Amino acid sequence: MSTNKDRVILVVGGACGMGAETVCRLYREGAKLVVLDLNVEAWEDLVEDEELEGGLGTLDFVGGDVNDASIRQTAIDIVREKYGTLDSLLYIAGVLDLMCPAHKTDDELYDYVMDVNVNSCFRMCRDCLPLLWDHEGPPANIVIVGSVGGQVGSSAGAAYITSKHAVLGLARNLAHSYRFRNVRTNVVNPGACVTDILGNAMEKWPDRDVMDVDGNELYNVRGAVSLGVDWDGNNMTGWPADIANAILFLISDEARYINGAQLNVDGGWTSF
Ligand SMILES: NC(=O)c1ccc[n+]([C@@H]2O[C@H](COP(=O)([O-])OP(=O)(O)OC[C@H]3O[C@@H](n4cnc5c(N)ncnc54)[C@H](O)[C@@H]3O)[C@@H](O)[C@H]2O)c1
Repeated sequence: MSTNKDRVILVVGGACGMGAETVCRLYREGAKLVVLDLNVEAWEDLVEDEELEGGLGTLDFVGGDVNDASIRQTAIDIVREKYGTLDSLLYIAGVLDLMCPAHKTDDELYDYVMDVNVNSCFRMCRDCLPLLWDHEGPPANIVIVGSVGGQVGSSAGAAYITSKHAVLGLARNLAHSYRFRNVRTNVVNPGACVTDILGNAMEKWPDRDVMDVDGNELYNVRGAVSLGVDWDGNNMTGWPADIANAILFLISDEARYINGAQLNVDGGWTSF
């Protein structure tokens, strides 16, 4: 597969989970990385990690909330001022809604999920386009990490499902609109993967009810648990590396003819 050596890549949500794995892989290949993430502590741990030892790349980190316009602009300005161009934008950041059904989703929870998963994703893509388009050589790339929750109505709550369906539309429109300006846009839809996303949500919303009206755990009711288990109870959970592999493939030169696609990386869950 083509290498990412010297490629300029902006990663949103690169301090934990799938984003951190992707950053480590790209850094080892020699990419010039600009990473934006809210979790400064996790980032500080990551840069100490032996995973990054011996890497050939460069790292710039912007610690802050992607919903803050000045934070987004800081990351984009680093790319523009240091490199003047961008090879790939990877929007990996995302937050869960604790499986909350619509009638229990207040505006605070809805806005929290939609802001990270959709609104800031839209704004980041829009504002990076002038650095991506009319790219010399192979196409520039946008990869958005969606979810199998963008394909089915179970597996999460109403806000999360809405948000992950929304980014598929965004990606398709970008793929169509900028195909003649040498930009490809694709989506990776993970299934259940071992990361801290659920723990982070529970920490953020300690008092949220995750039971339905009959007292059943919504993780079970909505199928989120079965996302990680096949019919015989075998574990089908994925790992951040499985998602990083898919992202790296989509931004590779070998994927040059792939545009507007959704790559489900879910152990087959959405096809059963
Ligand atoms: N883990 C799963 O089972 C699963 C399944 C399907 C889809 N996904 C999607 O995969 C993506 C990555 O999730 P993950 O599982 O690696 O989770 P994670 O919580 O480990 O990583 C998410 C990252 O996004 C960052 N982030 C969150 N809100 C932010 C904000 N406001 N500003 C800046 N950064 C912010 C976090 O700090 C973290 O580094 C998300 O889009 C998620 O919806 C995850």
